[in-house]
Amino acid sequence: MSKSKSKIINKKMKKIAPIILCAAVMLCCSCQQKSAETTELVNDNAKNTTMEDLLTRRSVRSYTDEIPPMEVIEEICKAGTYAPTGMNRQSPIIIAVTNKEMRDRLSKMNAAVMGADNDPFYGAPVVLVVLADKNVHTYVEDGSLVMGNLMNAAHAKGLGSCWIHRAKEMFETEEGKQILKDLGIEGDYVGVGNCILGYTAGDYPEAKPRKENWVYWVK
Ligand SMILES: Cc1cc2nc3c(=O)[nH]c(=O)nc-3n(C[C@H](O)[C@H](O)[C@H](O)COP(=O)(O)O)c2cc1C
Repeated sequence: MSKSKSKIINKKMKKIAPIILCAAVMLCCSCQQKSAETTELVNDNAKNTTMEDLLTRRSVRSYTDEIPPMEVIEEICKAGTYAPTGMNRQSPIIIAVTNKEMRDRLSKMNAAVMGADNDPFYGAPVVLVVLADKNVHTYVEDGSLVMGNLMNAAHAKGLGSCWIHRAKEMFETEEGKQILKDLGIEGDYVGVGNCILGYTAGDYPEAKPRKENWVYWVK
């Protein structure tokens, strides 16, 4: 290349260099803004999903007998273990039952509390029994929050669930105490609730209308 030609190119480069630099900076800024917007959108979507799950979970009273994958049940239990507890004492325990014999035994014990012989577990193949240590003064609240986490997590994972009561009475019986003993569970555990789980059979229930005056505002 001749000297005069390279001088002309250098001159031109000097003129357009700031423009290129400016464009690069603008492109970089817009990329960063885009990534911030994307993060916000992802967070918003996550929040919306949580809200939607909380609003759409319902008590399911009809199940197929198919047992959901163990990993899913484990994840649901994990959500239970992350419920808040008074002073983080973590007073509750969960007995995760997928064994049909034990599931049927618990169902019979639950029915017996009512003097009935139907299946109060509505055919659900899985029962997560929540008990809590009565020596911790927040044990009922702790166990109830675990139950809430289990039901909401089950819904988030596409499973039906329902709180079945009378766990307290079930584990006050000699049979209940023996089950705990056989599982090597020692301590003053009181039944809080049975969270039944499984795949919903039939239509998913709709929410009943909310009562008036749920919330009293003080603004
Ligand atoms: C403490 C407690 C005990 C419950 N016990 C039973 C029960 O024994 N059997 C049952 O079918 N549902 C039981 N439920 C489920 C309620 O009936 C249900 O949550 C309520 O009707 C509202 O319906 P939803 O959960 O679909 O919003 C219980 C719920 C709670 C919170």
